[in-house]
Amino acid sequence: MVLPVTPRHSVTSFIQIEPPAVGFELNHEEEMTDPISVVVLSTGLDNFKDIRRALTAESRVKLLAGGNDIDQLYEEIVRLKPAAAVIALGQNADHAVRFIERLNSECPKTAIISAAQDASPDLILKSLRAGAREFLRIPISADELRTVLDRISEFCHKQLVEAPRKQGRMIAVFSSKGGCGTSFIATNFAAATNAKTILVDLNLQAGDLPLFLGVEPKYSISDMVEKRNRLDEALINTLVTPHSKNLWLLAAPREADSADEIEPQHVFEVLQKLREHYDYIVLDPQHTFDSITLAALDQSDEIVLILTLDIPAIRSTQRALEIFDRLGYPRKKVRIVVNRWSKQIDLDLRQVEKFLGEPAVGFVPSEYQTAVNSINLGTPLVQSEPTSKIALEIRRIAQEISLGVMPLSEATPRRTFWSSFLKKQPAQVQAQAQFNLQTSMEKI
Ligand SMILES: Nc1ncnc2c1ncn2[C@@H]1O[C@H](COP(=O)(O)OP(=O)(O)OP(=O)(O)O)[C@@H](O)[C@H]1O
Ligand SMILES: [Mg+2]
Repeated sequence: MVLPVTPRHSVTSFIQIEPPAVGFELNHEEEMTDPISVVVLSTGLDNFKDIRRALTAESRVKLLAGGNDIDQLYEEIVRLKPAAAVIALGQNADHAVRFIERLNSECPKTAIISAAQDASPDLILKSLRAGAREFLRIPISADELRTVLDRISEFCHKQLVEAPRKQGRMIAVFSSKGGCGTSFIATNFAAATNAKTILVDLNLQAGDLPLFLGVEPKYSISDMVEKRNRLDEALINTLVTPHSKNLWLLAAPREADSADEIEPQHVFEVLQKLREHYDYIVLDPQHTFDSITLAALDQSDEIVLILTLDIPAIRSTQRALEIFDRLGYPRKKVRIVVNRWSKQIDLDLRQVEKFLGEPAVGFVPSEYQTAVNSINLGTPLVQSEPTSKIALEIRRIAQEISLGVMPLSEATPRRTFWSSFLKKQPAQVQAQAQFNLQTSMEKI
């Protein structure tokens, strides 16, 4: 069994093989400057206890997960990407050695430490040949562990120095007027991509993106802000909410109070960190020019400015463009997209573009029922109805603004029993949407 340690839990909840010892509490997180994240695999309880004892005595070690189930632990290693994995060579040593081989080829950034009691030189050699970087004799001596951790630290440092820092592309989907469809379009851009993407809800007081994605986040941007000085990949993975193969959400705080404590500089730092871990960062900011929104817009590579073709929205877009000019944003950073486009709108588009001084790069058609059903079902339209007119246009615009888009064949959803059944009976699509809306409302 394996239990990952969430940021709210200390290592006490990591121990699943036995109840935690009274008074045994490790929470060195605050004082640790450069923690070494570790997971442990041990099929024998005695070995497990000894490894845990030694590791928890070391303040620079941060235990993430441990247990006796190889498959579950493997999944945790892939998810948490720890700096090191301690693999005990117990009774079934061959099994453990094969696991080391697999980890070595599939998770090369995790340093493997094999550990055993009374291991023969032959077995130690086998584990090293399989890919273990270090060996620890059980019971583990504090001195030996310190030496091994020094080497692991060096290994991690080398990797950091060698690996160039990733710089994901950041797109803000913005409108200075509410209700134009920015959340809907941001969600669909993020869901259309072919690479690792994070959608960030910057409506800190009243974010509603979990409903658009049909997810229930445990953590929010305020947790990420709080832990911003020690955001490594494992911690980021814990704080974001997965949606689909390529898409994660960083939710707005559930309580508006915690949003008050978030400063623009905090948001800046968190977004910078996200760039290192995601290929695309899609932002859904507020509709005002407050300092947090400005921090986000400044940092973005591109701003997709959404408007609808009504006078208040056009006026507000023109003002937004003036502000962007004053802020010194180059015009090529801003791309205008008309949402709820319909030929029936009695406005001369060329006049509008002339008034704004910029052409529109996209026209998302107005299909209220289609849009609202996808929102109520909590599934982005590019996934639930990838060939609908709205989805096709959003995919086209995404390509235009240099977001890599997944091929249509991959975007087509695997039809669940319900979705294929409902597709044939539009009245029931609504009933299902209604039902989901009901459950979503209950969650609020
Ligand atoms: N292309 C479209 N056709 C028809 N309806 C649409 C379209 N795009 C969005 N809508 C509808 O507009 C409404 C508002 O959308 P959304 O919440 O995305 O806007 P917003 O700009 O994020 O608003 P808020 O001010 O709440 O942040 C939703 O009910 C959505 O279904
Ligand atoms: Mg919104």
